Amino acid sequence: MRFGTLGGGGLREAAGVLSRAMRDNPLHVAAFGDDPARRVASLEALFRGLLPQVQARPLAARRGGFTVAVLGLEPPGACEITPVHILRMAPRLLRLGPSAWGRLAEWQAAWAAHDPDTPHWHLGPFGVEPALQGMGVGSQVLERACALLDRERAGGYLETDREENVRLYERFGFAVTGEERVLGVRCWYMLRQPRG
Ligand SMILES: CC(C)(COP(=O)(O)OP(=O)(O)OC[C@H]1O[C@@H](n2cnc3c(N)ncnc32)[C@H](O)[C@@H]1OP(=O)(O)O)[C@@H](O)C(=O)NCCC(=O)NCCS
Repeated sequence: MRFGTLGGGGLREAAGVLSRAMRDNPLHVAAFGDDPARRVASLEALFRGLLPQVQARPLAARRGGFTVAVLGLEPPGACEITPVHILRMAPRLLRLGPSAWGRLAEWQAAWAAHDPDTPHWHLGPFGVEPALQGMGVGSQVLERACALLDRERAGGYLETDREENVRLYERFGFAVTGEERVLGVRCWYMLRQPRG
């Protein structure tokens, strides 16, 4: 397994990994509906629009020449999705249909309202190819992300919609700072203070 940052052409592959990995997350079912293929297509459209706009390159794990895990990392001050971002993504988002777009807007507004006021790196989206989940790949990516946060002496912040992920992030020093239902789905907000 090799770890590093992804750029340019790698972002398209990363969008594919993330959309397959995150296909069944409860928020994605709530936002994009019951059809798994439609959810993958919607997520891929979303991530293809989003990843090139993120300032820092995502962290990735690669095996056999393929990207198998991706973690988005946005530096302090850059994690708010602005109207310019939305405008750039509009053609892709419109293809999702007006009701999915409405749910996406509600979800993003709810998450943005919890964003800490203190400077922090924003982690996510995060996904490992489904066949490789539960084998330690995600933990190795998180180790590298947390090492960066500690080097920068910076906080790290993330949102999640799955309780098993809360356990994973707690192992890396994240603590739950808030919890609420978004689109009817339980979500946790988590912050990590730098170590050392
Ligand atoms: C969450 C995710 C990135 C973790 O990567 P991973 O390589 O599967 O995780 P690791 O093998 O390093 O660690 C396993 C731990 O992750 C958590 N976990 C979350 N989803 C899991 C899954 N689908 N399979 C196995 N473990 C999972 C558990 O806490 C597990 O610990 P446990 O065995 O003590 O319960 C990956 O499982 C994934 O892509 N899940 C689906 C998409 C998602 O939820 N992304 C995160 C959004 S915030």
